[in-house]
Amino acid sequence: MEEVKVHDLVFCKYISSNEITQRVKQLSAEINIRFEGKLPIILPVLNGSFFFGSDICKHLEIPYEISFVKIASYKGLEQSGNTQTLIGLDESLSHRDIIIIEDIIDSGLTIHNLLKNLESFHPNSVTICTLTLKREALKYNFPIDLIGFEVENKFLVGYGLDYDKQGRHLKDIYKLKEDNNND
Ligand code: IMP
Ligand code: MG
Repeated sequence: MEEVKVHDLVFCKYISSNEITQRVKQLSAEINIRFEGKLPIILPVLNGSFFFGSDICKHLEIPYEISFVKIASYKGLEQSGNTQTLIGLDESLSHRDIIIIEDIIDSGLTIHNLLKNLESFHPNSVTICTLTLKREALKYNFPIDLIGFEVENKFLVGYGLDYDKQGRHLKDIYKLKEDNNND
């Protein structure tokens, strides 16, 4: 099995770039159908969803606007338990059809807090589109409309996902290897 080392840890190949490309096209096609005749505003959550967000947008045939939000919650492999908004929301979101683009939903805290913050903009609708979902780890309850892949409850890197800022560049997605020794 193909392996990579990021910092001190070994990860093995989990979802290939081909599978990602195919799934992204399907998700974009679904967005094209759902938002036909509308002008949604796409809201990728930085940093992790920069590849996923731009690949989704490349396959959209409807017009859209885009805005970014930057939220940090992880420190290394652990959820820090709270979220910090580093680039915020602005008035362009008021009364709009918002499509949140996320790389991974783990506990759900990041999206839970983002949804709360979006309430003050009285959106017409909010759609969540996530590349991956760790359903087993989910602790918050909100509707997740579009899911690329349901994944095991293991730490992932690649295609934008990082382990302590590294590993984002990998074309495929890798999962943390079971028995990680550091030789
Ligand atoms: P949540 O708030 O627990 O749902 O975590 C969501 C955020 O944590 C994601 O946007 C990622 O930035 C980060 N995250 C969660 N799981 C992973 C992972 O397996 N690899 C890399 N980042 C992750
Ligand atoms: Mg993220």
